[in-house]
Amino acid sequence: MAEVITVLSGKGGVGKSTFCANIGKALSKNKKVLLIDGDISFRSLDILLGLDREVVFDWSDVIFNRCTKEKALLSVSGNLCLLASPLSEPNSFGSADFLKLVSEYKDMYDFIFIDAPAGFNSATRIYAKAADEIIVIATPDSISLRAAYMVGENLLKEGAAENQIRLVLNKADFRHMKNGVQKNLDDAVDKTYLRLLGVIPADKLLAVAGDADSNLISGRTTEAFLRISERILGKDVKLYI
Ligand SMILES: Nc1ncnc2c1ncn2[C@@H]1O[C@H](COP(=O)(O)OP(=O)(O)OP(=O)(O)O)[C@@H](O)[C@H]1O
Ligand SMILES: [Mg+2]
Repeated sequence: MAEVITVLSGKGGVGKSTFCANIGKALSKNKKVLLIDGDISFRSLDILLGLDREVVFDWSDVIFNRCTKEKALLSVSGNLCLLASPLSEPNSFGSADFLKLVSEYKDMYDFIFIDAPAGFNSATRIYAKAADEIIVIATPDSISLRAAYMVGENLLKEGAAENQIRLVLNKADFRHMKNGVQKNLDDAVDKTYLRLLGVIPADKLLAVAGDADSNLISGRTTEAFLRISERILGKDVKLYI
């Protein structure tokens, strides 16, 4: 039975979709993983995974019985699949429809990641409701960190438990951490009041590696994703890189 993990952020462009694509690749070395693109109208996982020319159906087609749940799946690799997002808001798509959709895939995968749009709106509320665990992504700047804090507060108000929510700090630029890496990262985490799941370095190559070749990413970045994947699997791995 799949563990469902929803990936949220307060600010846009902090790396949610990049995180989903790369954590999906890391976990799918040993586990079966489904990525659901939840960014209606602005989907990007199909492009990041090099599948944009292959999208015929999306998850709204499954909800409205226009295709089978199997037919909507796009294969990224043996253990990794994608369910593309609709390009426009489906009519009368409600919480129950989406929860039913996710539950239909649960017995086929070990992990299901839902890539949400930025902010906290009706769609992200539904995705949070579908989740066993929620990962909030933030970059280590004050605006993004405060937005992550606000997402955490909203999740708690909506009934999420504190231990369901974890933080990933992305685009950490260690060269500019003048007060020491550990202190800077600790201060950043403190501002969100969330538990840290991991830190991913700023890596210019991530921007071009998505639809090209994940081998382009530096060893340090690949390692960061692998360490986070091990923590998701419940292993005790040192937090900072
Ligand atoms: N660790 C990183 N280092 C450098 N660039 C990164 C990193 N992670 C993501 N990026 C880049 O940041 C940009 C935004 O990433 P991405 O689309 O994954 O963010 P997002 O949070 O999904 O955005 P949106 O809120 O629009 O859905 C992309 O150009 C991506 O390549
Ligand atoms: Mg995105």
